[in-house]
Amino acid sequence: MATKANGSAKTAGAAYPITDHEYDVVVVGAGGAGLRAAVGAAEAGLRTACVTKVFPTRSHTVAAQGGVAAALGNMGADSWKWHMYDTVKGADWLGDQDAIEYLCRNAPAAVYELEHYGVPFSRTEEGKIYQRPFGGMTTEFGEGPPAQRTCAAADRTGHAMLHTLYGQALKHQTEFFIEYFAIDLLMDADGACRGVVALCLDDGSIHTFRAQKTILATGGYGRAYFSATSAHTCTGDGNAMVLRAGLPLQDMEFVQFHPTGIYGAGVLITEGARGEGGYLTNSQGERFMERYAPHAKDLASRDVVSRSMTMEIREGRGVGKDGDHIFLHLDHLDPKILAERLPGITENAKVFAGVDLRRQPIPVIPTVHYNMGGIPTNYHGEVLTLRGGNPDTVVPGLMAIGEAACVSVHGANRLGSNSLIDLVVFGRAAGLRCGEMVEAGKALPPLPPSATELALSRLDKFRYAKGSTTTATLRGRMQRVMQSNCAVFRDGPVLKEGVAKITDIWNESTDIKTTDRTLVWNSDLIETLEYDNLIAQAVVTVVSAENRKESRGAHAREDFSKRDDANWMVHTLAFADDASRSVRLDVRPVHTNTLTNEVKYIEPKARVY
Ligand code: SIN
Repeated sequence: MATKANGSAKTAGAAYPITDHEYDVVVVGAGGAGLRAAVGAAEAGLRTACVTKVFPTRSHTVAAQGGVAAALGNMGADSWKWHMYDTVKGADWLGDQDAIEYLCRNAPAAVYELEHYGVPFSRTEEGKIYQRPFGGMTTEFGEGPPAQRTCAAADRTGHAMLHTLYGQALKHQTEFFIEYFAIDLLMDADGACRGVVALCLDDGSIHTFRAQKTILATGGYGRAYFSATSAHTCTGDGNAMVLRAGLPLQDMEFVQFHPTGIYGAGVLITEGARGEGGYLTNSQGERFMERYAPHAKDLASRDVVSRSMTMEIREGRGVGKDGDHIFLHLDHLDPKILAERLPGITENAKVFAGVDLRRQPIPVIPTVHYNMGGIPTNYHGEVLTLRGGNPDTVVPGLMAIGEAACVSVHGANRLGSNSLIDLVVFGRAAGLRCGEMVEAGKALPPLPPSATELALSRLDKFRYAKGSTTTATLRGRMQRVMQSNCAVFRDGPVLKEGVAKITDIWNESTDIKTTDRTLVWNSDLIETLEYDNLIAQAVVTVVSAENRKESRGAHAREDFSKRDDANWMVHTLAFADDASRSVRLDVRPVHTNTLTNEVKYIEPKARVY
């Protein structure tokens, strides 16, 4: 690695001295995907840096509870082909089947690798990795009983994985740049990515990280909504950098609501709770999921359960004094099971709902949890764009993985526990790709003088913003519009209103006001940069949702209540132009080919549970 202080860049406002770093691979983000990719790149002998805005073990992967899906067959017959079928169906046929095959086929090896790295999985009596049922995971291509496929470390699986992967990344000499906020990509005149510009929060210094490959592992943008299970740091910074680079985001209309966020607090209660036998009731004490999903019941896929809960509340059967939520019962379960397998949510229910779940139901409500959409990639993690009519054109030098990416394995709706497996399978794939494509130690050409202009002028604009509306005011308005105009159920007039309102907020962002002009730990500035990232993603989300005239997966339109494969079995591509405050939409065909001849294309059919 080469590091040097090399001059400064002048903006309209201030001159910024820049420290330049040169690596083979730079990973932005230190969650499960970023760390796994960093391990892979370092293992391939490449000089690898990981730039992260939070300490690695505080990345949002830490909050994932219930488990990681892989057809190990430890608790009954299972097959990666059944897992593939469930994932295609869960995705409501919007997933790319080559990528889904790659995910499910490689999942068992990825979990055994985690076991060997040291993840403290819960165990069966025979000492095998414990696996629990999760929504939409079945056997015999949907015809058999629920699969026990979700490998768990009690209900702290993400926590266990993240800590273990951080240890592995350190072991492999990944160089960490912790509490560095990535501002923008370094793109060259040929449309290739050459690295990233970042601000060191601790001392306010500016850094360029140049590399042959830049891997965005920056997570989702749940905080565009008012109520989300996502941490406050989930602002989709990589997604927004991609939009500013003139590249598209894919399928942004598909936002997952997790059925069981704690009412009022938004904190996650794992789907593993229902996997262990928990069930939902309405104000009449009825287990209403039996009506909506007679076979899978409370373990139907998340979009189905969230919609059913919303319908119960709308029809006057919600619980609580305002009839606006639902109860989740675990009070019938053996306290030993709760203590062994669900200790984390036992504590969360006490702290965030004041409930002893051994005796009382937990008040829950569907809460924003995951973004199926993101940066389009192939199954190697290479970023794709539309160039010369080809929507699968690889952007040189740029990769994306994890929730930031749209591979697309989750299509219109992700199955629970398919996120953690996505992180490690595609994190590993990206590391392998770097091993194939990157030449260790190769000297990098210097950057053109204008390369840092986008990042530094953006930084300067917000650092000295003299408008009259605070960041918190604009962010609050954005979050409320998203919550009410782009929710579990959508329809034309509400979405049209959403487009108008969110565009107004985008326009009014020119009037933003910051007060702290310093650079050291300037949270006013960082929150403003994060808001700027969120609003662009919020806009493309609502515009894409308004455009899609069908219902599919998490996108449930009351005015177009059926899935329409003839017209809409396509990915949405959304480009945003910050200067003209406009969005342009295009499409990318869904991959209907599989990776190998071992499995055939899974034909679309009605999705019932
Ligand atoms: C959960 O445990 O329900 C969350 C895990 C996931 O979203 O896959």
